[in-house]
Order: sequence, then structure tokens, then C-alpha cells
Amino acid sequence: MNQFNTTTADTAPAYVKHKRLKDWVAKMAQLCKPERIYWSDGSQEEYDRLCKEMVASGTFIKLNPKLRPNSYLALSDPSDVARVEDRTFICSANKDDAGPNNNWIAPDEMRATLRKLFDGCMRGRTMYVVPFSMGPLGSRISHIGVEISDSPYVVVNMRIMTRMGNKVLDVLGADGGFVPCMHSVGMPLDPGQKDVRWPCNKDQKYIVHYPETHEIWSYGSGYGGNALLGKKCFALRIASIMGRDQGWLAEHMLILGVKPPQGQKLYIAAAFPSACGKTNFSMLIPPENFKGWKVTTVGDDIAWIKPHKDGRFYAINPEAGYFGVAPGTSDHTNLNAVTMLKQNCIFTNVALTPEGDVWWEGMTSTPPAKLTDWQGKEWTPDCGRPAAHPNSRFTVSSTQCPSLDPAWDDPHGVPISAFIFGGRRSTAVPLVYETRSWDEGVYLAATMGSETTAAATAQQGVVRRDPFAMLPFCGYNMADYFNHWLKMGHAIVHVPKIFGVNWFRKGADGKFIWPGFAENMRVLKWIVERCLGRAHAAESPLGLVPDYKDLEWKGLEEISADKFHTLMSLDGETWKQELASHSEFFDKLKQRLPRELTERRERLQSSF
Ligand code: OXD
Ligand code: MN
Repeated sequence: MNQFNTTTADTAPAYVKHKRLKDWVAKMAQLCKPERIYWSDGSQEEYDRLCKEMVASGTFIKLNPKLRPNSYLALSDPSDVARVEDRTFICSANKDDAGPNNNWIAPDEMRATLRKLFDGCMRGRTMYVVPFSMGPLGSRISHIGVEISDSPYVVVNMRIMTRMGNKVLDVLGADGGFVPCMHSVGMPLDPGQKDVRWPCNKDQKYIVHYPETHEIWSYGSGYGGNALLGKKCFALRIASIMGRDQGWLAEHMLILGVKPPQGQKLYIAAAFPSACGKTNFSMLIPPENFKGWKVTTVGDDIAWIKPHKDGRFYAINPEAGYFGVAPGTSDHTNLNAVTMLKQNCIFTNVALTPEGDVWWEGMTSTPPAKLTDWQGKEWTPDCGRPAAHPNSRFTVSSTQCPSLDPAWDDPHGVPISAFIFGGRRSTAVPLVYETRSWDEGVYLAATMGSETTAAATAQQGVVRRDPFAMLPFCGYNMADYFNHWLKMGHAIVHVPKIFGVNWFRKGADGKFIWPGFAENMRVLKWIVERCLGRAHAAESPLGLVPDYKDLEWKGLEEISADKFHTLMSLDGETWKQELASHSEFFDKLKQRLPRELTERRERLQSSF
């Protein structure tokens, strides 16, 4: 282990050639006062050693190697289980640049607060330095970050979720650009003080972004997007700002490839709000009647998309792994995920079986008779508590995904033929429609809504506007973001088609009409065939829609023509209310809202 005395100015190993990086690390060490500094090399040996250390410290439970080889379970503090949107800040110099969609505090004020919090925050701990690349090493679409963290859990998760370690330093060279990402769990240890299983700060949490200097500072949480700073903080919030300024897109989108039996493979990027089944859709296995169709996975959560000189958008998945929600993952909903989770995984906040394996709600139809739940308590099926936390997670390398696309690591990225946007809507929004133009597509995405699930708020079924599924992730004013999207339609020649989908429409009986999961292939097929110019579409006020005969129904006879019409129906009264709600939402952004969107709303109003 390379240990360096924090009192000397040069805290880096000799192989680190980047002066600005070394100076930054030394300065942060002076502020945080860790016991030691450790530069992560990203090796398997290092990963195994840190996991072993965490087993010894109680952070990790090693799972039964016969049932779940080389895998671990972490149980977090019950107060640290999810992203903290109300503690997330965009500290731009000008408040309006953060927009009404973000929490804002003046940068000077925030810096003063954070300076106090970070002063000595790593006492008694190791400060890990983690160089990482978001995207394939050396790709023109990729960008590099360096995370400083006092959490070994973060280091091992970052090794799965990003390209990480010495190979990144090689790309960075002596003066390459990087996004500095500061992270502390916010729980210094006094001399002799015993550590806890999951250190965090129960009272103070800050997830802070400085748009002008592209910095991230995260304090007080060790969980997911709060702590793995490459993901939501860098790849979405800071990258969306970089994209605005540099002419590209950083999006909350999965990327999949679809190959029809005849013809070329197309790549599609799709945005859905959190908890709408993005990972499942990105790994879809076509139903039996779709012989010769193949879906492949490039990414399940984030897409970076840059215009190319051939006139098309090229996308990469900036991540190298999946940090997915475990509950609901089963052979039926996502067989590819079940297969990829058989080994080499980190699980967080799922339940532990007596045999030393993991379990979560929905994994099997009958739960085991006895479990240890995510809080480490005894659990039985009748105890009235969930065994796994609803936001419990798996961390797994992309390379374990059976449907992984061969181009997933291609530095050129993959050409995008279409965008799909979909929320969770029990009414109003049809199963699928295609917008007639880029600008109409931007309107569709800008007004996307999703119904809250019981887990998200106390109230179920309330529509929350989640434009582009980016509401919690856009690092600047959402109205400026709409403008940026409108502009990007002119940055390329081969403009992707834009589709809206809704898997969640309910019937009069309150039940979902559409079976979802693998059956979503029927909609995907129509979308692909529209892109290839092979499928029919009819006019509707929202755009172009399939007739019943335009979709493949073999193997899904339960969806009659009548049910299909209910799934596709546009009720005038419902749409009057829907458009009023669009208007209410736009009102919040009116200062900078593009005229194109208000005009589109007015045209729609005249159709209903
Ligand atoms: C996620 C999210 O964790 O969107 O991916 O919340
Ligand atoms: Mn997400």
C-alpha cells in the first residue's frame, strides 16, 4: 500500500506526472486531514484487498462463494438509503442560471459552509484518490474525473461503474483536464474511536455542484448517486452544463441496439424517469414470436451524445457497470440481469438468506421462510416489513451482461436513429406515438410526466412533470436546457425520430392494460420499422400512431383491437386538463421558456 505523509506538500506517488492534480490532492489533504492518502491503481488485487478489509471492518458481508461467488452485501445506515434531492445544490454565480428546477445557494456562501464541514472531516480515515474515465478511454466523447473519497465502498463501486485507476492517469498525462470530485462521509474518527459499519453524517448532507468551475463536493452520505460522483453528479449535472457550453447532450437515457431479422442494426436512446424499468428495457429479450430480432445493451442509465461530421449523433454510455434497483428483478422481468448477477457483484440493502445468498421482493414468487433484512434484523414473510429496501441496489460490471452490445466500449460511440421518451401515466398518454418533427419531439419530452409511486411520496398517482427524465439531474435552468435541445436539432443532418411511449396505462378496473417487459418489443418493432421507412402510421393530434394492424400481435392475443384502442385513446376532456397542466408547468419556467414550446401548446389546444 502506498502511504504518504499528509504534512509533506508532495503526496503523490512518483508515477503521477500531473502537477495540477498533485497540487489539488495535497490541498484537499491539508483541508480534510486524513490519516493517510492512498492513490487507487484500479487493479483486481486492490479491489480484492479493499473488499477483504471491508469484510473485516463489518461494512461488507461476504456471500456464500458456492451460491454467489466473489460477491458482497453492504447494509447501509437506515438514514442513508437514497439520493437526497432536497440537499442537492447547483451553485452558479447567477441564481437564474440554476433555474427553478434546482436548489441554489450563492457559491461564496456554499464554499464557506463546505470549508468548515470538510476541515478535518477525514481524521482517522484514509483519503482515497480515484482517477476515472466516464466513457471509453481516450474517446472524443469521454471525459475524465478524479474522485477523492474517504470511503473504500466508493472505491470498489467506482471500479465497477467506471474505467478507473492508473490507465486513466496515463490518458490524463501531465496536463489533461479533469473534473475534481470531493467526497466525504462526514464522520471523522477521534483517536481510538471505533468505526461503525456504515459511516455517514446523519445531520448534514450536501451534494454540491459549481457549474462555472465544474467542481463537485459531496458531504455526509455514502450511498449511490450521492457518493459515486461519476454517475448523477458528473455524468448528468456537470456534463449537462459541459454539453450546453460545448454543443453536445448528456442525458438520463439507456442506449440499446435492435437488429431486425432483415436489415441493419439501429441504436435507440430512451429516457424514462427513475423507477420506470429502464434497466429492464435496455436488456429486453424479445418474445418467442420475434424470431430473428435481437436487442443488445449499450447502457441502462446515462448517454453522452455528440454530433459527428457525418451528420449524425453518436452516443456512448459513460459508465462501465450498472447500479440498478434490485427489487422486482426476476427471470420474468429481466432474465439477462438475473444471469449477470450470478457472481462478482456488490449488493447494497437487499436481504440475506440463511445460506448466505441474497433475496429481494419480486425475485421469487414465494419468499424464503426466514431472512435477515436490510437492517440486519430477523425477517419472516408475515412480519409486515419489506426484506430488501425498495431502493436496494446491485453493482455489476457491464461485461457480465449477456445482451451487452459489441460496440459498448467503442470510442466512436454508436449512431442514434431515434429517441424514446416515456413516463408512468395511467391515463392520457397513448402506448406509442411518433412526433412529426424534432421541435414537436422536444415538446413531448419537455412536458413528460410521471405518476409518483408510493415509495417516492406519501401520495400515490400524482403526476410530477419530469422533463426529459432530467428534473433531478439537469445542472442548469431547465428552460435553457429546452433551448439547447431545440438548437441541437440543427447541429446534425440526419435528425433522429422522436417517439413517446407509455407502458403504464390503466383500464376502468384500475389494472394495467399493457403487460410490459418482453412485450414492449411489439412497440419497439414498430419504432424500428418507422425508422427504416417500412411501417404504416396514421395521423392523430399528438403525431403519428400505429393502427391495430400495424403491430405484431402473434403470441399476445389478450390484447384485442378494443384494448389496443383504449391504450391509444385520446380523450378530449383529459387532454384539456393535461394541456392546462403543461401550461402550469411552463409558467414556472416562463422567464426563459422557448417560444417554440408555447406555440406548440397553443396548436395542440386547438386540436382538443
Ligand atoms: C438512478 C435514478 O438511480 O435515476 O438511476 O434514480
Ligand atoms: Mn437513473
